[in-house]
Amino acid sequence: ALKVTATAPGVVKLFGEHAVVYGRPAIAMAINKGIKVTVEEGGGDSLTILAKDLAVKGVAIRVTGNSIEGSVIDDSQLSRLASYALTALRIMTEKYGGDLRGIRVIIESQLPIGAGLATSAAVSVAAAAAYARLINVKLSKEDIAKIGHSVELTVQGAASPMDTATSSMGGVMYIKPGVELRKLSTSLKMPLVVGYVERELTTGELVKRVKALYNKHPRVVEGIIDSIGAIVDEAVTALSGGDYVALGELMNINQGLLEALGVSNHRLSNIIYMARKAGALGAKLSGGGGGGAMIALAPGVEDKVAVAVELAGGEVILIDVNYEGVHVE
Ligand code: MEV
Repeated sequence: ALKVTATAPGVVKLFGEHAVVYGRPAIAMAINKGIKVTVEEGGGDSLTILAKDLAVKGVAIRVTGNSIEGSVIDDSQLSRLASYALTALRIMTEKYGGDLRGIRVIIESQLPIGAGLATSAAVSVAAAAAYARLINVKLSKEDIAKIGHSVELTVQGAASPMDTATSSMGGVMYIKPGVELRKLSTSLKMPLVVGYVERELTTGELVKRVKALYNKHPRVVEGIIDSIGAIVDEAVTALSGGDYVALGELMNINQGLLEALGVSNHRLSNIIYMARKAGALGAKLSGGGGGGAMIALAPGVEDKVAVAVELAGGEVILIDVNYEGVHVE
């Protein structure tokens, strides 16, 4: 092919973020909005990465042979996204060959970038899947998930496989790093309200913050991380039984423990409390924290909870489950 487009879903984290970096299990859900990456052969000597509709200037990167010479121009969320796409292509050529000269990459997002909805995982997964098709290499969704994870490790230094596995494979995923990757349900209805606020810190910075707290108070933080792991185990049972009350309680406990790890902030916690007050059975931050995304379990009161989230200063994103994962056209 001369031109391939792949779309990979964003991800909301239902349970277990941060503890998953320490090998505990987590549950995440792919959503019906994501990132679209088009990779095309254009000729010429340079690799170009463009992002559409993101209200930031494009990023141009020069490539000679397979070594990247230029660097990402500005320091915006967009260029962060571009470095994930670039790293995905670089890892793909290291593993499977191909030539990046003359390649044009176009990134389009249906989600706010860097809000904790796994846009970095989605761009990594979509870029890897699109490039694989372009060079006629057949990869499974598990293979693409692994490449996406290497991309996140390369760009961020530390990352669990949670977001990339869920974005690639779709559905509601149980992830125990290095041990188990399992789709939990293909028919589950999750009456979730998703909101977000601007972030003060990146996921990478928040992961470092937790690490510093861990080093300072290892016994205490180990206990918190273990409790989060126990929440995930109970949530698996509650999910399979459709027990929203138990799921809500577990979300609230999970939020308390994330607060204890220092990854929530005043604005985000406030939205979470307002969502509960409006009738949500449970509410928690979702993802790295520091602002960013939150979720509320609100069966029958979705509208009321969405209004409360907006009144508290959050933006609501309407979502549904995406069961397919990455999709190549
Ligand atoms: C980020 O979406 C979730 C964290 O657990 C980091 C990771 O899993 O790599 C905070």
